[in-house]
Amino acid sequence: MVRVCVMQEKRVSSKSTPTDLVTEADQHVEEVIISTLREKFPSHSFIGEESSAAGEKCVLTDNPTWIIDPIDGTCNFVHSFPMVAVSIGFAVKKQLEFGVIYHCFDGTLYTGRRGHGAFCNGVRLHVSKEIDVSKALILTEIGAKRDNHTLDIFLGNMKQMLSTPVHGVRIIGSSTLALCQVAAGAAEAYYQYGLHCWDIAAAALIITEAGGCVIDTTGGPLDLMSRRVVAAGSREIADYIVQQLKPISYGRDDED
Ligand code: IPD
Repeated sequence: MVRVCVMQEKRVSSKSTPTDLVTEADQHVEEVIISTLREKFPSHSFIGEESSAAGEKCVLTDNPTWIIDPIDGTCNFVHSFPMVAVSIGFAVKKQLEFGVIYHCFDGTLYTGRRGHGAFCNGVRLHVSKEIDVSKALILTEIGAKRDNHTLDIFLGNMKQMLSTPVHGVRIIGSSTLALCQVAAGAAEAYYQYGLHCWDIAAAALIITEAGGCVIDTTGGPLDLMSRRVVAAGSREIADYIVQQLKPISYGRDDED
């Protein structure tokens, strides 16, 4: 069922659940990005949030592939809450080569290129080197699934972090901008179940190039399509989070 309403001049619909929002702007921005890139790189592949929602396959092959979130933080965008970004990652042979994340409200541009570092408006980024989790600020996101079972695990995981105790836990409503805070050393770590490859692709490269680690919630290597991530400035804090989390089950991006 598609629900449509108009909020602050934005035409808003919902996708997989009533809290999984999309606006005409999401669709328009994605069309503009893909058509512009396709004109320059006709042989490349594209994975985009709204194309996937419209039924296109979300499969990462060896072909050069652009992974696009046209508006990350759509719920924030709907409410004019100023945490909204455009995220574009680029992978070749399934390896991330560069990532770009643009904070639409303050104009901040986060960039990273494999082997060449990560930057915020041209200034080099470095993750926090804190290894003591009790001094960590941790970010997470809830995602669109809100059934009781999911919420119980989500809140249990958050309680586990808060009672460690860590310095704080924050939810800002944009996975990509939260991950950029880890790259910038403004937060020690991020974890989430239920995000998508377009939420993590660009940010994973930016965090890695800023000196951090981005891994699966099981402690293994990141799997872009798995919808799970732990990212941290230090491996010690990432490992602590991995040990505490109870899993929330989501279908893979490449199997939906
Ligand atoms: C979502 C946001 C949200 C997070 C979801 C993401 P969207 O992206 O980043 O905070 O919880 O997992 O998919 O739908 O606004 O592009």
